[in-house]
Amino acid sequence: MIEFPKHVKIVEVSPRDGLQNEKQTIDLSTKLELINRLVDSGINNIEVTGFVSPKWVPQLADSTLLCQQLTQHKRVNYSALVPNEKGMQLALKNNIKEVAVFTAASESFTQKNINCSIEESLARFKPVIALAHQNSIKVRGYVSCVLGCPYEGEIDVNQVATVTEKLFEMGCYEVSLGDTIGSGTPIKAQAMLKTCMNKVPIDILALHFHNTYGQALANIYACLQLGATIIDASVAGLGGCPYAKGASGNVSTEDVIYMLNGMSIETGINLDKLIDTGQWISQQLYKNNNSQVGNTH
Ligand code: HMG
Ligand code: MG
Repeated sequence: MIEFPKHVKIVEVSPRDGLQNEKQTIDLSTKLELINRLVDSGINNIEVTGFVSPKWVPQLADSTLLCQQLTQHKRVNYSALVPNEKGMQLALKNNIKEVAVFTAASESFTQKNINCSIEESLARFKPVIALAHQNSIKVRGYVSCVLGCPYEGEIDVNQVATVTEKLFEMGCYEVSLGDTIGSGTPIKAQAMLKTCMNKVPIDILALHFHNTYGQALANIYACLQLGATIIDASVAGLGGCPYAKGASGNVSTEDVIYMLNGMSIETGINLDKLIDTGQWISQQLYKNNNSQVGNTH
């Protein structure tokens, strides 16, 4: 009989992954209200923004202002993406207690997304991680394209495991496995996870599944069977990477919580409040798109 975990950690990525791909500028006040509503729903881990180049991701150009206005709570861990030392310095200035470095298992995607090779990206992370640890900041790592690449197609799972192991050895306390374009299916997801589990402990691995072909929940269920206990998700299924054309949103947090509740797996999250939050942000984005599109005519 399969033993499922009793508790799962949810990492809510909607303020960053969910909004980074939105074409119309979203007000800072809307972003802050989204974060406050997520906190009120019982979410403890929220990736709020990225200290990335505003030329590359204009939607996150307000990262400093956003971090300055976050309401702090003892139980809540706010994190931000950081691609290089410049980003790390900004995270430090803004009192962020957890950062996430990000690379991929695909050379082409890494070039398109962060303008360097995988090896160069890892070299860039060394001083970032050192600086973070000197300042007692936790570092998470992302490996993108773990189940397929928008430029290279199939990705070798051994390459995924190798990059994962490197990030872990470099000091990432958690490594998130990103199915960036949502091309994975459950048996392939299990094979990928098993290969990574041969190199690093399962309890440091997070599942970050986009839902392009409706497979994310099935992939998560398959990986829970292998002992995974950390899931990245995005309220209302928002999300997508500007450098992975056609990739749709992340798995929706509401769907994940509904499934976990049905399996008696605890998350500490209030599903009703989360659903309200999902409906609220969807309405805000709808209004925002219509008003800004309207203004241009
Ligand atoms: P670059 O152009 O090679 O960088 O970009 P550079 O070092 O040559 O600097 C160029 C300019 O950017 C300079 O400004 C720098 O100061 C500035 P200028 O002199 O021209 O005015 N700059 C910065 N500004 C603010 N913050 C910084 C920063 N660094 C340089 N940190 C770089 C390289 C990595 C910066 C760029 O490629 C970048 O920002 N990429 C980020 C792309 C991104 O955020 N993608 C989406 C997130 S990843 C994702 O979605 C996948 C994930 O969800 C998992 C999954 O689903 O698989 C995580
Ligand atoms: Mg993502």
